[in-house]
Amino acid sequence: MDENARVSNEVVIKADGVDFSYRSGEYVSRGVTGINLEVRRGEFLVILGRNGSGKSTLAKLLNGFLIPDEGIVTVMGTDTADENKIYEVRSKVGMVFQNPDNQMVASVVENDVAFGPENLGIPRAEIEERVTEALETVGMSEYRKGSPNKLSGGQKQRIAIAAILAMRPDVVILDESTAMLDPKGRREIMDTVMNLNREKGMTVVLITHYMDEAIEADRIFVMNDGKITASGAPKDVFLNYDKVKAAGLELPVASKVSKALIEAGYDLPFAITDEELAKSICRLKQKI
Ligand SMILES: Nc1ncnc2c1ncn2[C@@H]1O[C@H](COP(=O)(O)OP(=O)(O)O)[C@@H](O)[C@H]1O
Ligand SMILES: [Mg+2]
Repeated sequence: MDENARVSNEVVIKADGVDFSYRSGEYVSRGVTGINLEVRRGEFLVILGRNGSGKSTLAKLLNGFLIPDEGIVTVMGTDTADENKIYEVRSKVGMVFQNPDNQMVASVVENDVAFGPENLGIPRAEIEERVTEALETVGMSEYRKGSPNKLSGGQKQRIAIAAILAMRPDVVILDESTAMLDPKGRREIMDTVMNLNREKGMTVVLITHYMDEAIEADRIFVMNDGKITASGAPKDVFLNYDKVKAAGLELPVASKVSKALIEAGYDLPFAITDEELAKSICRLKQKI
């Protein structure tokens, strides 16, 4: 897909001056504050932040699971605070969570993926079509008749993604969906997510504390203590090292190495991917 055509100007989710606190009795715990952001159709957006920085709270505000105390969240123009539209809002913004085992509801993969559309009252023939397409998208067609229990963590998360896709959402939010996986499982999910975004044009909001998962994002939002403290293209955000560090995050290895080389006086550009770093080191070698 043409890069320029991938991200449109259409704003699918907008948060404007959003605050949210958790309350139980007298006790108030701040979730997020002063949140402003827009998600455009086709975008691959990453929300980065350490534990407790407010990422999950923000995610739940974006799909109407939580309603702002202050400010407004709209999903394709609909205010999430509108009680009459809440199911409409939630069906447009699908969420994949952290623990793959908690997301399985059926004992056969295809039933698990069919569960969402069945609840939406979709006709049987169309459910079949949706299940086939969703499993194909996540590369799990051959496991259709199998049991989710026998799958690896990465495969289970791919089924969880398929189950969301079968509901045909406009946006998919993944809330630390790779956090419990081994490196192979993480790679599987990242490949699936990139394919979803780049090939299928799906709008993706990926929430993570792994910097390396943010490298290919269109934009990154860094969260610290309930606030967005930095945002922009990955390179711009990573160059702003102080804010990244203040948020308790580490730069990707390629960025750390290129930063150290630049500081040591070598003439090379700041890199965020291993490929960029390798290329600039090769060029440097030719100059020496
Ligand atoms: N159910 C809850 N009740 C009370 N406080 C909560 C609840 N969930 C989250 N918080 C608080 O809100 C803040 C942000 O949490 P969260 O959004 O879960 O962060 P993250 O997903 O980045 O780890 C933290 O201080 C956390 O303790
Ligand atoms: Mg969280």
